Amino acid sequence: MERTFLAVKPDGVQRSLVGEIISRYEAKGFTLVGLKLMQVSRELAEQHYGEHKERPFFPGLVDFITSGPVVAMVWEGKGVVAAARKVIGSTNPLESDPGTIRGDFGVDIGRNIIHGSDAVETAQREIDLWFKSEELAAWEPTL
Ligand code: CMP
Repeated sequence: MERTFLAVKPDGVQRSLVGEIISRYEAKGFTLVGLKLMQVSRELAEQHYGEHKERPFFPGLVDFITSGPVVAMVWEGKGVVAAARKVIGSTNPLESDPGTIRGDFGVDIGRNIIHGSDAVETAQREIDLWFKSEELAAWEPTL
């Protein structure tokens, strides 16, 4: 079954949006298989955002993601990678549609509340980077 990696960024945690965000994915019908609140090291941040390392915003991005606790999650379900991105909205919250997480709660591209993997291959890389296999629960809803 397809899996994706999502992380509520420090702004989302500080603004008490964790429950709201988890509720949206539960209500949609996806299955939570990994969840932890953690302080991100600079090493992890630089690996996670490695594709952006030549961009001018990279130092600020690493500073921000390491500035406070992050809630890292793995969600499972049919088409979850693309669907989770739709729920998140566009990278720039000012361009995100109302009803999306960024559209409803953000205005600043550097404080855009949540990260979501952009493709199935990226999701696998990010899950492997953030989680040990024993931190993930393989389960299927039966109720
Ligand atoms: P995210 O989905 O986590 O992936 C890369 C992040 O870089 C993105 O969300 C934004 O938070 C950030 N980002 C992208 N473009 C810019 C920009 N122009 N200025 C600041 N941050 C940016």
